[in-house]
Amino acid sequence: MAEPKAFLFDLDGVIVDTAHFHYQAWRRLANEKLGFDISEAFNESLKGVSRTESLDRILAHGNVTLDAATKDAYATLKNDWYVELINKMIPDDILPGVTEFLEKTRSAGIKIGLGSVSKNAKPILERIGILNAFDAIIDGTKITKGKPDPEVFLKGAQELGVSPEECVVFEDAVAGIEAGQRAGMKTVGIGQPEILTKADIVLANLNNLQPADLQKALFQP
Ligand code: BG6
Ligand code: MG
Repeated sequence: MAEPKAFLFDLDGVIVDTAHFHYQAWRRLANEKLGFDISEAFNESLKGVSRTESLDRILAHGNVTLDAATKDAYATLKNDWYVELINKMIPDDILPGVTEFLEKTRSAGIKIGLGSVSKNAKPILERIGILNAFDAIIDGTKITKGKPDPEVFLKGAQELGVSPEECVVFEDAVAGIEAGQRAGMKTVGIGQPEILTKADIVLANLNNLQPADLQKALFQP
């Protein structure tokens, strides 16, 4: 019977609730520097997308044009505000069920990888004390293309020595589900089924999930 060999986790919005911090920091930039607001619905289109691409999307959304130097300065300012928020994080900020699910995954002999576009991924994992839970970490410093490009997940599979069809991707972003599918992997959406319509299955969170449940749901004919 086909079975999963590796689970690849997105970070922001799957392991920790930092998707909300990204939104807070971008919203502050839009309000204080760009003169418009961004809604939570618009923010869905920023999830999983790189820092520079996020700023480009925000500027297009508000019909604002900036020169390259100002864009750089604003991306840095947003990141400074974001880092202020993540610097207050503690291990209790790990989302419900994550620690237990990572332990069960390891006991089941399934490899664990991180697939995040964020350049802040490692400092966050260190702060919340789970850096060592991962067999491979692919973050924004190791890739050239953000999601929905599959690069981040394909690199994860490669580093773990497994083939893409043996991988399951856990994602809260529409762009991340697309990236997993383009990589040829199974996808578990974490969030709302109305938003993550393309995911193979959608769960509210990882609470009480067993690796064997996913084998049944995703790998059995
Ligand atoms: C992704 C987030 O994980 O990382 C995006 O979903 C974010 O919202 C991207 O823009 C890049 O993150 P960072 O921390 O490098 O600005
Ligand atoms: Mg995410």
